[in-house]
Amino acid sequence: MCGIVGYTGPSQAAPILLDGLRRLEYRGYDSAGVVVQSGGELKMVKARGSVAHLAGLTGGGRELEGVCGLAHTRWATHGAPTDTNAHPHLSEHGLFAVVHNGIIENFAALRSELEAEGIVFRSKTDTEVVAHLLEKYYDGDLKRAVMRTVSRLEGSYVLGVVCSKEPGRLFCVKEAGPLILGLGVGENYFASDVTALVARTKNVIYMEDGEFAELTAERVTVYDRTGREVTKSVSHVVWDIEAAEKGGYEHFMMKEIMEQPRAVKNTVEPRIRSGRIAFEDFSLTRAELEGYNKIVITACGSAYHAGVVGKYVIEGLCRIPVETELASELRYRDPIIDGHTLLIVISQSGETADTIAAMRECMSRGARCLAIVNVVGSTIARLADNVIYTHAGPEISVATTKGYTTQLAALYLFAVWAAELLGRVDAGRYAQLVDSLLELPRLVQRAIDLNVHVKYLAERWHGQQSLFFIGRNIDYAVAMEGSLKLKEISYIHSEAYAAGELKHGTIALIDEKRLVVALCCQDGLFDKMVSNVQEVKARGAKVLGVAPEGNRRIFAEADDVLFAPRGEQLFAALPEIVPLQLFAYYVARENGCSIDKPRNLAKSVTVE
Ligand code: G6P
Repeated sequence: MCGIVGYTGPSQAAPILLDGLRRLEYRGYDSAGVVVQSGGELKMVKARGSVAHLAGLTGGGRELEGVCGLAHTRWATHGAPTDTNAHPHLSEHGLFAVVHNGIIENFAALRSELEAEGIVFRSKTDTEVVAHLLEKYYDGDLKRAVMRTVSRLEGSYVLGVVCSKEPGRLFCVKEAGPLILGLGVGENYFASDVTALVARTKNVIYMEDGEFAELTAERVTVYDRTGREVTKSVSHVVWDIEAAEKGGYEHFMMKEIMEQPRAVKNTVEPRIRSGRIAFEDFSLTRAELEGYNKIVITACGSAYHAGVVGKYVIEGLCRIPVETELASELRYRDPIIDGHTLLIVISQSGETADTIAAMRECMSRGARCLAIVNVVGSTIARLADNVIYTHAGPEISVATTKGYTTQLAALYLFAVWAAELLGRVDAGRYAQLVDSLLELPRLVQRAIDLNVHVKYLAERWHGQQSLFFIGRNIDYAVAMEGSLKLKEISYIHSEAYAAGELKHGTIALIDEKRLVVALCCQDGLFDKMVSNVQEVKARGAKVLGVAPEGNRRIFAEADDVLFAPRGEQLFAALPEIVPLQLFAYYVARENGCSIDKPRNLAKSVTVE
């Protein structure tokens, strides 16, 4: 949450900064601001609203003359989204401007200290203390001022710093939150994410917690906490800027839904060679795997929902007990985890604060950690013992689609691989499962093609006030994700419920105004689902059924139907979520919602 970007070089900074900021807007979008060094001063424009609004105020950045500066797009934590609380924040005499992603936990004490020294605060943010501390400690040595300031801060912070008296020089600091440096020719950058920079450079340095960097047009120097220079390796980003553009689609979400066949293919195919699954970057022996008495999966949001599916599939194939737990809960428990626990952490961004904290907690108790991550070089990827990258490509829409389906694909790969290693599947079943994995991209495409009518169903049902998604077993896990998709982008209240549990209280909410989405894709449980459908229909509800392609009985039970193509039952969640993603998309579109940037949300949640 919050996106930051910095530039120093020969070109006008503000247009470059605004372009970077536009690509970081998924991180927060309630206000935005930009500052540049200009004739020995700092010139700043910031305002509530979008980056487009900020661009409008600055003539696309051209009205702010200067070749070195910082910019920020905000997801408010401390202080309402107002012009004043927008970043950058200036120091008392305007010497310093600061942008910040994270939370300064001891800001209240620092603020009181600075106020007692006569400093008048302009904003309600935690960030402003940083600007004042920098000015207080600056005696002509910028690096020392940055180090002294940082030594006073507690919490999570990625900072960008510019000083009016230090032309062409920027500092950035990383402590819990993403930060990368971009290396150009005669110009350099920093940003929260490579998407902000990839149009200008593909050579990047991933910063570690506790490091800070000094940037000039010619040179980038990275230091550790003590100020000692650190040698860093330069990574090359493999994807092009087109991957981070809409490519003719109205919204990133629809583009990313359509990209799913390819994304799932990128997750699965490179790991299958001559009919066998092999992971490039980790291996476990059978003895090691047998040494684990349980698997704990932890994650947040949709990644957690992928983990719930993972529990069914891993237990089903490997017969190892699996617990799936929300990271925000796990981190504050006293979990029974030790060296006999295999921890699986799932995260698209690799930066989710609660997931990182839960991971650290479990690893400190001796668990080995396997991370399923999309963003290469992210914090979770670097902290984990082993990583399965999903290779989904950049995901920009706040509501995840290809991020989630590729997490499922990675979990399936792991489950089949582990089941074979443990001798829980015979050669015939293994070969069948591997074929089914390779078939997934085609099934996803089929799920898109089968449901062109979803648009019309959305027209019919978009006026709902509240609805339920029901299912059993894996269908229940899919219901959770389908329900979240709908509520997060259309703002319609929606709840996922285990179909058999509905009658224990919640059925009181079912009446003739209610739409119930009934997921009926588990063959062995179809008749049970029909009973649950009957129960809600008897109370007047309308039913949108989701059934396997070719199932005709559903027409007798449901008012409308979405279809999921048939494939391996254990992997049913993956094609099944696709019509629900499309349904959520078209309902939100019917209702005129901001699909890629829903209110109050951010894609990468780097605060607790
Ligand atoms: C945010 C996003 C969700 C995402 C969750 C976990 O809340 O809006 O779409 O599922 O964070 O993110 P992660 O990057 O860890 O998968």
